[in-house]
Amino acid sequence: MVKCALITGISGQDGAYLARFLLEKGYRVVGGTRRTSTRNLRRLETLGIAADVQLVDFDLFELTNIARVLDRICPDEVYNLAAQSFVAISFEQPLYTAEIDALGPLRLLEALRGLGGRTRFYQASTSEMFGKVQAVPQDERTPFYPRSPYGFAKLYAHWATVNYRESYGMHATSGILFNHESPLRGIEFVTRKITYELAEVKHGRREVVRLGNLEARRDWGFAGDYVEGIWRMVQEDVADDYVLATGTAHSVRAFVECAAVPLGFDIVWQGEGAGASGTDRQSGRRIVEVDPAFFRPAEVDLLIGSSAKARDRLGWIPRTGFAELVAMMAEADDRRVRNGEAPI
Ligand code: NAP
Ligand code: GDD
Repeated sequence: MVKCALITGISGQDGAYLARFLLEKGYRVVGGTRRTSTRNLRRLETLGIAADVQLVDFDLFELTNIARVLDRICPDEVYNLAAQSFVAISFEQPLYTAEIDALGPLRLLEALRGLGGRTRFYQASTSEMFGKVQAVPQDERTPFYPRSPYGFAKLYAHWATVNYRESYGMHATSGILFNHESPLRGIEFVTRKITYELAEVKHGRREVVRLGNLEARRDWGFAGDYVEGIWRMVQEDVADDYVLATGTAHSVRAFVECAAVPLGFDIVWQGEGAGASGTDRQSGRRIVEVDPAFFRPAEVDLLIGSSAKARDRLGWIPRTGFAELVAMMAEADDRRVRNGEAPI
């Protein structure tokens, strides 16, 4: 029998990669998209799968819409990837973030419970829940200490998922994923901002890349690897929580240095903190500057995960290393900017 999966947030980075992965597995894929004045299916189009998925109008804000969609589609598996996913904006829009990222998953869980609780449910949880980290590296047993409205909204949804599993016997999984990137990453996130804007500098479309905290360290993996881990979690007989991470961390500063190389720059740093800047060794041009406008009210300084449980139980390991990931993103943006394509 062909399995049916509903992916909320199918127009996002992970939604697109997961949709492609499930289509390759022979699933019928239904994707939830919210109504906007312009349809944004660029990621699905880039992967060449826009015509292969069925789209439904879906918004995590609206319980009646969620219930009707589930009733109509009767999915075997629901992957809840939809979210207001940008940490920086969550400080500016904390109530909206809570509506979508905390109450949205609760609405989905309630609707699934109303249908008898037979559908398997995946919640996109996050390493941001570890925030001010209480142990290094972080795993499924590490206490949480969120540092942003995004982080504490996601923590609510994580515990809702655990609670519905324990209270109602639902097959509900929380995947605690560390940062994962790709050429389809949103332009507002630091990795894509760096590769895209450095490519713009290279092609004479921008003078300087302005960044916030260069010292923050993240465990960056490749989104294409992580969607396989998500699927594997949902296939387990008994639902549980899993961390997906690479186990290595790099600073934003190191990401800049690494992305600069395939774009033909060699960065030399001057100054510290808000006064730091980066110059290209050969041209002597200052092409990176720190702008305190990008600092956050509370920062997550270091995230580095251990995915030993996912490795042992799911057989999942990330295949793409840091240098390969950065080069993949930088080369894709070099091509896009050279061809005058709009960023995804
Ligand atoms: P993304 O690219 O920002 O995609 C988010 C998706 O959610 C988009 O399709 C967006 O639709 C949709 N969405 C936003 N608000 C919605 C609403 N009210 N109703 C329905 N859909 C809505 O995020 P991502 O990087 O793919 O991440 C996927 C999920 O994993 C998110 O929940 C994120 O918080 C979580 N996560 C991501 C990472 C990571 O490093 N990428 C790590 C841990 C957890 P539009 O296209 O219309 O905006
Ligand atoms: N966005 C951004 N822009 N971040 C910057 C900048 C900048 O100009 N300069 C420095 N940073 C720092 C941020 O302060 C943060 O410490 C780090 O770079 C990473 O920021 P983001 O790329 O915005 O990602 P994030 O770690 O806050 O959140 C992402 O990963 C989470 C998992 O840990 C998002 O994908 C979340 O949705 C996800 O849950």
